[in-house]
Amino acid sequence: MAGQNLRNIFGLATRNSSSEKEISVDNHVKTFGWAARDPSGVFYPFQFTRRETGEKDVRFKVLYCGICHSDLHAAKDEFGFGIYPLVPGHEIVGIVTEVGSRVTKFKAGDKVGVGCIVGSCRSCNKCSNDLEPYCSKMIMTYLSIDEDGTPTRGGYSNEMVVNEHFAIRWPENLPLDGGAPLLCAGSTVYSPMIYYGLSKPGTHLGVVGLGGLGHVAVKFAKAWGLKVTVISTSPGKKEEAINHLGADSFLVSTDQEQMQAAMGTLDGIIDTVSAAHPVMPLFGLLKHDGKLIVVGAPNKPLEVDIPVLIVGRKMLGTSAVGGVKETQEMIDFAAKHNITADIEVISMDYVNKAMERLEKGDVRYRFVIDIGNTLVATPST
Ligand SMILES: NC(=O)c1ccc[n+]([C@@H]2O[C@H](COP(=O)([O-])OP(=O)(O)OC[C@H]3O[C@@H](n4cnc5c(N)ncnc54)[C@H](OP(=O)(O)O)[C@@H]3O)[C@@H](O)[C@H]2O)c1
Ligand SMILES: [Zn+2]
Ligand SMILES: [Zn+2]
Repeated sequence: MAGQNLRNIFGLATRNSSSEKEISVDNHVKTFGWAARDPSGVFYPFQFTRRETGEKDVRFKVLYCGICHSDLHAAKDEFGFGIYPLVPGHEIVGIVTEVGSRVTKFKAGDKVGVGCIVGSCRSCNKCSNDLEPYCSKMIMTYLSIDEDGTPTRGGYSNEMVVNEHFAIRWPENLPLDGGAPLLCAGSTVYSPMIYYGLSKPGTHLGVVGLGGLGHVAVKFAKAWGLKVTVISTSPGKKEEAINHLGADSFLVSTDQEQMQAAMGTLDGIIDTVSAAHPVMPLFGLLKHDGKLIVVGAPNKPLEVDIPVLIVGRKMLGTSAVGGVKETQEMIDFAAKHNITADIEVISMDYVNKAMERLEKGDVRYRFVIDIGNTLVATPST
């Protein structure tokens, strides 16, 4: 049910993924990557095709791709609308190899990034206001059907082709590997902090879940001059959160005493947790008029006791990744303030082990696949 709803929300055609045949289009170009073939989420080498470079397209060699927890949710079909074989990856950076005749933003040799979205209608009210992720015809980097009828496939692959509108110009001084995760993780926390007014200096912000999204949320918040409290299930992350990431304080969410002592202290919270978890204690941490913004995507409903929110006029908000313009602004801001993700660079054939470790929270704080040096063409298995 959740899957069907999400499928409708994302405007995806109803199709039976298990009987899906690889669509072969004559003029498409052979490419390769790694794909999950079914909800076991196990990845294998996979050969497929991408379209030729269209007049507004940028073609690029992928060098690095971050592993977002959404890749894991999707590989295991936790969103409920898996399109297999699934090639995930939406934190993609590389070098432009070819541009179409009407491309103006890029030339061959430029560094380029692609995040979560590769298409939208470009004319609706949302698109006109640079909010492409909320367009009803939005096309995701993977888990969507592209305009040519083929499934979109992400950055666990040797090359990408994308309309230049959805490609991000890469600042010279921003490292490709540590910068890649900003394209999803960075944008997904930056956008709501601005939209919900949580980026003003002096704001006391809570960040729940110190993972890929959470740790960059702390970095952006500190760059804006916020006071930051990390709320985590992992006491072992305290020292790093404070001494390395610059958080001002740290709460262990399962410690009733600590949570009680911090009641009513926060102006807002960005909740990045990837699994169902109790949110009412988080509302307790908020001041009157405080906002809990959930950006994590657990596949089970969260329980909210509305009368408790009413008496404190507290808000529950959500947010998708930022639009293209805002993602570019975020990348430029990160370059200016030397913000990158803390990463563990891995080889392509380590992806299955990396997914196991990500599921257990065993990564500080983002795996990034060194596609350029480690993805080799292997026949599909
Ligand atoms: N809104 C969007 O558009 C959007 C975009 C990107 C990602 N997402 C979603 O955001 C979520 C986080 O992604 P990520 O890549 O940052 O994941 P991640 O690196 O795995 O981090 C998630 C963190 O949540 C905490 N956590 C995990 N399981 C928990 C549980 N059962 N109870 C309480 N806390 C738990 C852990 O932090 P502690 O150890 O500190 O507790 C973990 O490090 C995912 O669901 C992803 O799909 C949404
Ligand atoms: Zn993501
Ligand atoms: Zn639109």
